[in-house]
Amino acid sequence: MAGTVLINTIICLSLVMCVSVDNYKLGQLIIEGKTKQVWDLPAVPGHVLVLSKDRITAGDGVKAHDLEGKAVISNQTNAKVFEILNSVGLKTAYVKSAGEKSFIARKCEMVPIEWVTRRLATGSFLKRHPGVPEGFKFNPPLQETFYKVNIHLDIKDDFVLQDDANHDPQWSEEQIVSAQFKVNELTIGQDEVDIMRRTTVLVFEVLEKAWATRDCALIDMKIEFGVDSKGEILVADVIDSDSWRLWPSGDKRLMKDKQVYRNLSTVTKEDLDTVKRNFKWVADQLDHLTPRTNSLAVVLMGSPSDEDYCKKIAKHCKELGVPCQLRVTSAHKGTEETLKIAAEYEGSTEKVVFIAVAGRSNGLGPVLSGNTCFPVINCPPVKPENVTQDVWSSLNVPSGLGCTTVVYPESAALAAAQVHALHDHIIWSRLRVKQLNNFISLKVADKMIRNMQL
Ligand SMILES: Nc1ncnc2c1ncn2[C@@H]1O[C@H](COP(=O)(O)OP(=O)(O)O)[C@@H](O)[C@H]1O
Ligand SMILES: [Mg+2]
Repeated sequence: MAGTVLINTIICLSLVMCVSVDNYKLGQLIIEGKTKQVWDLPAVPGHVLVLSKDRITAGDGVKAHDLEGKAVISNQTNAKVFEILNSVGLKTAYVKSAGEKSFIARKCEMVPIEWVTRRLATGSFLKRHPGVPEGFKFNPPLQETFYKVNIHLDIKDDFVLQDDANHDPQWSEEQIVSAQFKVNELTIGQDEVDIMRRTTVLVFEVLEKAWATRDCALIDMKIEFGVDSKGEILVADVIDSDSWRLWPSGDKRLMKDKQVYRNLSTVTKEDLDTVKRNFKWVADQLDHLTPRTNSLAVVLMGSPSDEDYCKKIAKHCKELGVPCQLRVTSAHKGTEETLKIAAEYEGSTEKVVFIAVAGRSNGLGPVLSGNTCFPVINCPPVKPENVTQDVWSSLNVPSGLGCTTVVYPESAALAAAQVHALHDHIIWSRLRVKQLNNFISLKVADKMIRNMQL
């Protein structure tokens, strides 16, 4: 009797130990590669737990080592990278960190393509394009695609950034479209390839800008896409030190990525320590890539009756990640007060763009423009019946003034965001994502209308 209880307890204990990670009850192991396991989460439908392993590999798994602590560092790196991507509005599978070595992601069927973006020519590109010197700069970044031959086997590696002969072939756009991959009911055709290609370049640019704030050059990187049960294309898998080449100060000799490991002919304990130290350095740097913004848009309205109009500007600013303040002041009726407000911001540490909202004759924008060095954008709330008359006070300003004029609340917010994008890479990224989303919605609308039965 006592024996049966003991055995049952052991079975229960071992079951609990086997099926729970970081307080998440695991379902089936969906897939296991060299560096991670992907587990179903029965309690969180449509989601998976991705668990990193303490394993480093290169050359399609030919070179492989256990590296204690790698899973934690990789999981930290991936979490910070995807938090940046999510924060600027990119659609990704990453949901949140689950524990030291794991994160929660939307469950995807994966598109068996590796999407590579390069800013500088190096590595395998030089072998495939003899004559091109190392460091050749691609403007816009070069985008390449490789078919993941061994996606379901345990011998696949992120070959594309490495220098040795690889097993996964480069594929053209025509090859991808012709393969007609079906992922979660979505057939990958030209539209989907266009969307993934654009998104790939944008992911690179967003991270390139972020790394530039730490004086690090992102040289190239690879990402993967998955499709969730709703048929949505998401940036999936992981992005960590295995995914890119990263050269501090743009100096190849200072490289901090997995290339250090790939380049080793023999691997000593000291070598592995160096690789781990580099990976940790990268994870630590990522904490500083999104500093608190000091960007600010100040919407000055000539009259409280303009409040609703100004709130529309504030709403668009918020969407673009530009903090926004509303103020009431009339340059005609309270000139001193207007100048005091300008001085208040001149004396602050914020970087300010003024947006002047004044109906009828706009004195506000021109007065601000003549008395401050901050950019001033006029956004007169013109009425259709007198637009041609009222807009002239914003346009035909005296010499010496450099204010600009727009007539839609969204345009004012976009113009302010574009000014801030010069110094704030998060706002720059949000603007770019907005442009990408415009591109995607037009594609989706075109696809729907094309397929419509008339
Ligand atoms: N959100 C996700 N949903 C389903 N599968 C995923 C997700 N993210 C990554 N995967 C897949 O998990 C597998 C395991 O990852 P990894 O160890 O890197 O394998 P590989 O060696 O094939 O690259 C890969 O096939 C990867 O595409
Ligand atoms: Mg992988």
